[in-house]
Amino acid sequence: MLNFNFYNPTHVVFGKDRLSEIATLIPENAKVLIIYGGGSIKKFGTFDKIVKALESFEIFEFGGIEPNPQLQTCIKAAEYIKENNIDFILAVGGGSVLDATKYISIAAKYYGNDYKSLIKHGFTPVPVTEAVPFGTVLTLPATGSEMNAFSVISDETGKYAVYSPLFFPKFSFLDPTLTYTLPKKQVANGIVDTFIHVVEQYITFPVDAKFQDRAAEGILQTLVEIGDYTLNNPEDYDARANFMWCATMALNGVVGSGVPQDWSTHMIGHEFTAKFDIDHGRTLAMVLPSLLRERKENKKAKLLQYAERVWGITEGNADERIEAAIQQTENFFNSLGVPTKISDYSVKKEELKDIITQLESHGMVALSETGDLTLDVAERILENAY
Ligand code: NZQ
Ligand code: ZN
Repeated sequence: MLNFNFYNPTHVVFGKDRLSEIATLIPENAKVLIIYGGGSIKKFGTFDKIVKALESFEIFEFGGIEPNPQLQTCIKAAEYIKENNIDFILAVGGGSVLDATKYISIAAKYYGNDYKSLIKHGFTPVPVTEAVPFGTVLTLPATGSEMNAFSVISDETGKYAVYSPLFFPKFSFLDPTLTYTLPKKQVANGIVDTFIHVVEQYITFPVDAKFQDRAAEGILQTLVEIGDYTLNNPEDYDARANFMWCATMALNGVVGSGVPQDWSTHMIGHEFTAKFDIDHGRTLAMVLPSLLRERKENKKAKLLQYAERVWGITEGNADERIEAAIQQTENFFNSLGVPTKISDYSVKKEELKDIITQLESHGMVALSETGDLTLDVAERILENAY
């Protein structure tokens, strides 16, 4: 097992009918800003419940965070916080609202003149020391943002991963009933995103991390078990509860501690969202199968383990078992209504080279767990994914 630090200070409050407890976790007399997205929380009554739960506080609101949050919107929110001396932020929504809030929390304490510089540090911590404290109420299980220190912010030049230890929420409310109103497409995206978060920390090379492997396989098998069911039975509480907890556990450090990680599918996928505005989860589904085929020698041992332990594939030679496992993965995504070929989206074959150009301009030229997924390899992956 590799060396690692595990640090995760987020207080999770899980379960139904618990929003009234939010007030107990926010400092007394705080001026609280509620940040939300395009309005789903108002349409479905979550906003009113939260306002009621916070009746003893002075409340402000900032809506309009876009899916794949835009830097300029976040800057407006940060300036609003400065103008109104906000002490605490409550993010209510999906990964985009949570990610935006993370960036806003440091931007609101930033007094330089280059807000953009805060999103250009990749996976090294943003060089800041202060953030407005924030908590979250999650309405879409997918990103794991509710219990991790990552954010993804977009501007006109691309989509950027931003990291800071200050980005751990103080608390996150995970109420599966708040997800009942999700459109099927978002549920499917969330299942695929969760699945691929685990895959990118699991299908690498073995380091004898037995618990992390079993935990990863546990999440993958749970998603396979409940995926279709929760998609078609949105108000089955237990199915949603299992999905929600899987999404959180997939990217909060537990399965990724002490193991190699490969974020290539995410980094390539981000370029498709930036250029073609394709939903995050879908970009992953169209890259991953081809990437696994391309990298099957590098990932052989773990692919065979995945085939056997997640899909029960034990027949055939190594190549056949690996191909069967990749095929099962595609079938699973397709069964949720998520296509797995780039040509299923409105992307022209000749536009694939633009993705390669973008990867290069963003410095994504040596991806994967071994740093040898170069641009020519990425090009082959995309061609075969078309
Ligand atoms: O904006 P509103 O009106 O709330 O509508 C949203 C949005 O249109 C809607 N929605 C959310 N909860 C709902 C609901 N509609 C009905 N009922 C509900 N309960 O769903 C739409 C999509 O929301 P969004 O937050 O964009 O989706 P998701 O949670 O998938 O987040 C995607 C973003 O997270 C980033 C992605 O790159 C993308 O920008 N990621 C963040 C990560 C992290 N912080 O660790 C890791 C991920 O790999 C990912 O990159
Ligand atoms: Zn993701």
